[in-house]
Amino acid sequence: MSESQIVNDLISWGEKNGIKITKGLKFVNLPNKGISCIASEELGGQQPIIEVPSDIIFCSKQIQEFLPGIEIDSQDSNTCLKIILCKLKFDTKDSNSPHRFEPYINALPEIIDSPLNWNEDELKLLQNTNLGNCLKERFQNVYDEWFKFLEKYQNYQEFETQSETSWYNFSNFLWAHLIITSRSFPEYIINPNCPRDSVMLLPVLDLLNHSNYSKVEWDGNKGGNFIYKKLDLQEIEIGDEIYNNYGGKGNEELLNGYGFVIEDNLFDSVLLKIKIDNETITDMANRGIKIPQLEDYTWFAFDKPKEGEPVAPSLQGEVIFLINKHHDESIQDMINIFAFLNRKQIHEDFAQPINQLEGIQMLRNAIEYKLMKHQEPITNAKDDDDKEKQKINEYRKKCSEIYRNGQISIFKEVIGKLKKLEKTILKSGKKLLTMDKIIKNDQEFIERELQEFFRGKEIVFETHMEILVIWILVKIRNNSFPVKCGWVQKMYDSQEGLLFYSDNESDEFYQRLDLHEQITAEACNRGFHFIKSNVYTRISNDECIFIGEF
Ligand SMILES: C[S@@+](CC[C@H](N)C(=O)[O-])C[C@H]1O[C@@H](n2cnc3c(N)ncnc32)[C@H](O)[C@@H]1O
Repeated sequence: MSESQIVNDLISWGEKNGIKITKGLKFVNLPNKGISCIASEELGGQQPIIEVPSDIIFCSKQIQEFLPGIEIDSQDSNTCLKIILCKLKFDTKDSNSPHRFEPYINALPEIIDSPLNWNEDELKLLQNTNLGNCLKERFQNVYDEWFKFLEKYQNYQEFETQSETSWYNFSNFLWAHLIITSRSFPEYIINPNCPRDSVMLLPVLDLLNHSNYSKVEWDGNKGGNFIYKKLDLQEIEIGDEIYNNYGGKGNEELLNGYGFVIEDNLFDSVLLKIKIDNETITDMANRGIKIPQLEDYTWFAFDKPKEGEPVAPSLQGEVIFLINKHHDESIQDMINIFAFLNRKQIHEDFAQPINQLEGIQMLRNAIEYKLMKHQEPITNAKDDDDKEKQKINEYRKKCSEIYRNGQISIFKEVIGKLKKLEKTILKSGKKLLTMDKIIKNDQEFIERELQEFFRGKEIVFETHMEILVIWILVKIRNNSFPVKCGWVQKMYDSQEGLLFYSDNESDEFYQRLDLHEQITAEACNRGFHFIKSNVYTRISNDECIFIGEF
């Protein structure tokens, strides 16, 4: 049967079953988009509406019709819908007496371009991306869902004999799974009392493709029909596509669940996971740090945790952030988390500038690492002659490039914002001290005190911070702070009582520079920790900035 015949059969089946479609809408096949809806004539001010009657809405209602007698727990009903889809498409037992959804099932795409369907060489295209990294787990989740369902309901008569050729085999289930992820709607729109994660299929309406800019309304009527209305009518001209709007989804979610991406996607985002133990997460939340919760994300209706499962992903040993170019509030929340985790010992408050600077730096490192990984050349799957090269589908390749470039562009944007934030904080600092300033303002130290302190011995400092430590040790011992650095002395006096740590770091420093003749280990420890607690070291150039008042 030709593609257009399949579409025509579906539309006339729909109309016979009471689907109402505004006159002037036509369904055609478009390259790389599949069946799509276009305005074939002037709509004359009418609002395009598609109404799907309750009787042909494919949802948990159909379970008894197609798997009579099965007793399904409510939390398994979405999986059961997938199994029923398999039955309607692949069970050839009753092929002489077609079921009532036949034209609908015939028009469903055979293949969805989700990476869950990509071959090994195509998957290499996602190397080092978040999607590439979690595909194995996602694939395993689908497999477990299928396996557990069949295990749980193995006594149902139809599942008693399992084989690779049975209509409910895993490959068929994966197809059904992707049909549900790529075209289902939340059932609560027509049935407010159903479980929040229940999904349904809406024949014909599900032929509408997605646009982020499409203004639409979804509603249910008293009879349980579903009504779609296109609201931005003025903009529709003959030949224009009539879109649905699947919600603000980034390319990762679109590619994974729907098998397509959008260039310059307004809702594109990158996902960052920070592993933190639950106790620390709770501590951070109690101190006013915003930890993202489930409602902060858009999730597939069916990916939501089931009743009784833990709700917040942020309380399972990790915090998950989605960063979007246009909504960057989450950047500050992440800085706060990193600031808290790296806070200086004597500055408990994560909001203090020195901790914020550390937080910015840590976040920037994490993102720069991700950026670098995303820019690494893709290692070609088959340099190995033994294996046959698998053909790479050009559309999938293009999708992977758009997805990867979208991630790269967000990383770059965030790095730019972090650099600006760092500058702003440093600019607002009233009292900052760098090596350059010391060299400029403390000739005495450079020309005499340093020589004298080490008695002419040649010393190799490993970091800029070490020079600052020596500076403070010398200044305290000689009581020779230059006037311009009087504030450092005041700071030292006020923090002195807090500055003793038993750790190896300052002992090692004391031994390595052989300071025992010049000062006591305790004095060295204090000076060392005074600098360490108040200095911000830029990892990129090892520059040390001693942070005073703001
Ligand atoms: C709900 S269905 C829409 C109907 C679909 N075109 C069909 O042939 O059945 C969702 C699927 O349509 C395609 N699609 C939807 N919006 C798209 C878009 N903006 N660009 C490319 N493909 C799109 C994807 O293949 C997606 O999995």
